Amino acid sequence: MSTNTSIIIMAAGKGTRMKSSLAKVLHPISGRPMLWHIVKASTLISDDITVVTNHQADAVEKMLQESFENLQFKRQDAQNYQGTGGAVMGITPKHGKVLVLNGDMPLLDEKAMQSFLDIEGDIVMSIIKLVDPSGYGRVIIGEDGVERIVEQKDANEKELKTQTVNAGVYLFSKEVLQTYVPKLSNDNAQAEYYLTDVIAMAKADNKTIAPLMVEEELFMGVNSKYDLSKAEIVMQNRIKEQWMKAGVTMHLPDTIYIEVGVTFVGECELENGVHIKGETLIENAYIKAHSVIESSVIKNSDVGPMGRVRPASLLEDTHIGNFVEVKKSTLTGVKAGHLAYIGDAQIHEGSNIGAGVITCNYDGKNKYKTIIGKNVFVGSDSQIVAPVVIEDDVMIAAGTTVTASKVESGNLILSRAPQKLVKGFFYKFFGKK
Ligand code: UD1
Ligand code: CA
Repeated sequence: MSTNTSIIIMAAGKGTRMKSSLAKVLHPISGRPMLWHIVKASTLISDDITVVTNHQADAVEKMLQESFENLQFKRQDAQNYQGTGGAVMGITPKHGKVLVLNGDMPLLDEKAMQSFLDIEGDIVMSIIKLVDPSGYGRVIIGEDGVERIVEQKDANEKELKTQTVNAGVYLFSKEVLQTYVPKLSNDNAQAEYYLTDVIAMAKADNKTIAPLMVEEELFMGVNSKYDLSKAEIVMQNRIKEQWMKAGVTMHLPDTIYIEVGVTFVGECELENGVHIKGETLIENAYIKAHSVIESSVIKNSDVGPMGRVRPASLLEDTHIGNFVEVKKSTLTGVKAGHLAYIGDAQIHEGSNIGAGVITCNYDGKNKYKTIIGKNVFVGSDSQIVAPVVIEDDVMIAAGTTVTASKVESGNLILSRAPQKLVKGFFYKFFGKK
């Protein structure tokens, strides 16, 4: 970790263009809020990170405090000091260099941040060349290098044509920041304090301004839901590339969705359309097409096609087939091949769950547990009304509704209405064809 750099992350803006009641930086990408990603990368670079908040500040700070320690927060006085200049006002960084980042850049990684630190200068600023520069601040470059940044709303026609734009990330010396930020004014089209005005002020005092050409993809700012979807594609590709390189087999990876909290161990195979979310561990498992797994552990097992494993489940040495839904249950050495709902259950080795079996875990008020021992054969279309304990070596006949609270070892349990045979009824009713 480079300990001579402080980081300021500006995350106070409302994000009006998202057209959402949720603050922009809280919108999730691959399972974590947008802001989480850049803070995570920042913690790999710096031990002095300040996040600037204002809009939905409580929610933003709470989200970060749940994941990170030792962050500092600064609430921007956006009433009196609006804009990116207002955001950094009044912060005293610990170190001599200060990297200033936008909270809406979820794709910026540690490597991209590090590239600023490798360059000398009073200011290192990021520049991208774009065919369509609209929306960005234009970078005005003269004979003597970068002169100033002009925001789109303040630019004249000639300036608007400039295709060299400000990517919005800067490395300032602490001295530059402390000298010029207090001198910023809001005399511009948006009546905001622009951090970008520091460039021209520093230039006038002959400070060195080093431009750093950067990749558009990494520095993409998310301003709309469309941008959000583009950022998610890039992040998904990163996550999947990393796991495939680590040995996970993926069929048609473009159709697979994997969140950042997912871990694979050993040899794993994923078919098309698989979604794996939350904090999930997959170890030596085969997940077949269109299965959805959330915050669970799956070891030496196979799921799907079209299996669903909901949070807090553990599957070990188990087979879950098509249209089987498992929730908050532990299955070890179990087979459940087709069409079942298993909720709040524990099922042990050698047990077989037939097609159409339902654990009735909810009575409309409370949830109850189903415990099934070893070698239990649960016949098709049975309902098991919880709370219930089925001991080892029990057979439940097909179509049974188990209402007993306990079934002891070695028994068969069944509930069936006596059958009636009405001879020749079919032909009487429909006639012979
Ligand atoms: C900014 C730059 C622009 C650059 C672009 C790159 C300024 C004046 N302009 O414009 O030159 O091309 O980024 O993406 O800096 N924020 C606050 N407090 C505020 C306003 C914004 O914390 O009062 C935060 C936002 O939450 C956001 C970041 O600063 O994370 C950037 O703000 P945004 O409004 O998106 O700036 P742009 O108009 O994109
Ligand atoms: Ca922006």
